[in-house]
Amino acid sequence: MPAARSARQAVEPDQVRRRYLELLKSALGDRLYPGAEDAEVTLAELSRVEGLSARVKELLVLPAIEKEQRLMLERLSTTDNETLARFLRDNTPRAHTLVSRSALDNVEDCVAAALAEGVVGDLMECGVWQGGVTILMRALLEAYADPDRKVWVADSFQGLPRPDPSVDVLDAALHTFLQAVGGLAVSLETVQENFRRFDLLDERVRFLPGWFADTLPVAPIERLAVLRLDGDWYESTRTALECLYPRVSPGGFVIIDDYAELFGAHRAVDEYRRSHSIASPLIQVNDQVHYWRKPYPTATIISESRRA
Ligand SMILES: C[S@@+](CC[C@H](N)C(=O)[O-])C[C@H]1O[C@@H](n2cnc3c(N)ncnc32)[C@H](O)[C@@H]1O
Repeated sequence: MPAARSARQAVEPDQVRRRYLELLKSALGDRLYPGAEDAEVTLAELSRVEGLSARVKELLVLPAIEKEQRLMLERLSTTDNETLARFLRDNTPRAHTLVSRSALDNVEDCVAAALAEGVVGDLMECGVWQGGVTILMRALLEAYADPDRKVWVADSFQGLPRPDPSVDVLDAALHTFLQAVGGLAVSLETVQENFRRFDLLDERVRFLPGWFADTLPVAPIERLAVLRLDGDWYESTRTALECLYPRVSPGGFVIIDDYAELFGAHRAVDEYRRSHSIASPLIQVNDQVHYWRKPYPTATIISESRRA
């Protein structure tokens, strides 16, 4: 079949990589086969969520709730069944990641730029759920022929921690809802099995099971080229920034999945950037995901006169 062979020979390695990554992203997001969006929400599932409004209302009596938070809580406490059903559907998919296609493309863009520019360090996500983003990170190292960087996978592997309402009342309200869908708990074994299914589980994938406050300060990570934070809450995000931002290399990328008003992560990021005088622009990817690049240190210029 000479014609077929010459067509095969004409395929560029770049094209093959593109096709592999497109296919992978579709599979990770459960966009390969039709039907996921039609998954029925059962009455039993819905009844687990009903009654949550009352629990959210209880939070309204807390002192020191800001005006915007109060408005948001009032909206959550009057959520109708249709919205709840949509919430359940969106949060219990068959997918390996909850993040959108634009967010997966952003991960590739950041990793590809870091590799092309030789930014030193590994790749990491804090808050992985089924592991999809970290599976993509490992695939990117393969697809872009990186020989030795690692992918760090940090999660409790038992779901979101319970936020203290006095620290962030909206996190506490959202937690009540997320608990109704299992609090996003996925076991370490399941995440490892997900890597295995894509033939991407090897010694370059490092797991850090446990609460961020326990695992991140002592994690044996030296440098990070891409750090992605997806732990939703104020405390989780603050802990991760405090422990890991100092280890992000100059030129490295920090991606925040939950930079939306509803999440405490938004406040944690603003506070951290302000207190560390980080002026690099926060670049918006979609209505939630934002990222910034850690600046290269400005070269210390010793003037001729001072040196003399
Ligand atoms: C929204 S999910 C992550 C979604 C994931 N990035 C994806 O691609 O679908 C949030 C994850 O953060 C984890 N998490 C949040 N706070 C944590 C903490 N303080 N310590 C450990 N894990 C935490 C939860 O267990 C959960 O798996």
